[in-house]
Amino acid sequence: MSLSSKVLYDQFVHELEAKWELDESKKVAEIVFDHLFGFSRIDIFLNKSIPQSDERLAPILQRLLNGEPVQYVLNHAAFFGLSFFVNSEVLIPRQETEELVALILKENGHTSQNILDIGTGSGVIALALCIHRPNWNISAWDLSLEALDVARHNAHQLNLTVDFRCLDILTKDPDTDQYHLIISNPPYIPSAEKLLMAGHVVKYEPELALFVADDHPLIFYDAIAKYALKSLKEKGKLYFEIHEDFAHQIQTLLNHLGFEEIVIHDDLNKKARMASATRG
Ligand SMILES: C[S@@+](CC[C@H](N)C(=O)[O-])C[C@H]1O[C@@H](n2cnc3c(N)ncnc32)[C@H](O)[C@@H]1O
Repeated sequence: MSLSSKVLYDQFVHELEAKWELDESKKVAEIVFDHLFGFSRIDIFLNKSIPQSDERLAPILQRLLNGEPVQYVLNHAAFFGLSFFVNSEVLIPRQETEELVALILKENGHTSQNILDIGTGSGVIALALCIHRPNWNISAWDLSLEALDVARHNAHQLNLTVDFRCLDILTKDPDTDQYHLIISNPPYIPSAEKLLMAGHVVKYEPELALFVADDHPLIFYDAIAKYALKSLKEKGKLYFEIHEDFAHQIQTLLNHLGFEEIVIHDDLNKKARMASATRG
């Protein structure tokens, strides 16, 4: 027996409203219907029929009502037009990070280069760059073995090659003149901000990916910039995603270390969320 997608969608949205605002409920329902049935908003508007009742909907709804992010419930996140497997061992990729990838692609051409992504998580930055710059030789590191399993799984699904390694950037000795580009979206949220953050982020996303000690919020920027100073080739570039509150301090840090052409970039919301600099 076929079912009306519009009726099913309206019911789903209505149930989600017990937990979320209407707009958020609709957004989440659209993601679920797209993922399960391949239905867009327009398909639902046109009331395309669903062949039979789908038993997957009820457990999905229950997990969403418990506050679990839809990306973890579906084990799926879209990033830069690509489809990624995600689970609670990795950060859910954010829009600002897509903008960082766009910036890097805009500023760097197709010539063969050695690239390093530090704190790769699900591998989104490394793999999105890999698909758009097939000549680049890309390495990506993370401290979490579980995150690296996810990143390797994504590389396999997308049929891409990235050299993933388990390394702690806080203790890594520098290499010499190795990379043309070093990129990182490191942990940067001071622990004190936990109290102000949405419950589903704090409860479900990995602590290792998000938080830093309140008394040393720039620990990763400091370690990565020092590593990059020796490990980048001459005129090699460093790209960071940053917390807008620390833009000025990161600019000062890079300046003190001797980086050149330091630029703080705004995201689409006009927030200072990226930094780039060149090794002299
Ligand atoms: C903010 S997440 C970024 C994940 C992914 N690159 C993205 O943009 O969605 C930071 C990542 O850094 C990793 N990480 C935390 N401490 C680290 C360390 N000491 N060395 C290397 N990676 C670390 C975390 O496991 C996490 O995957």
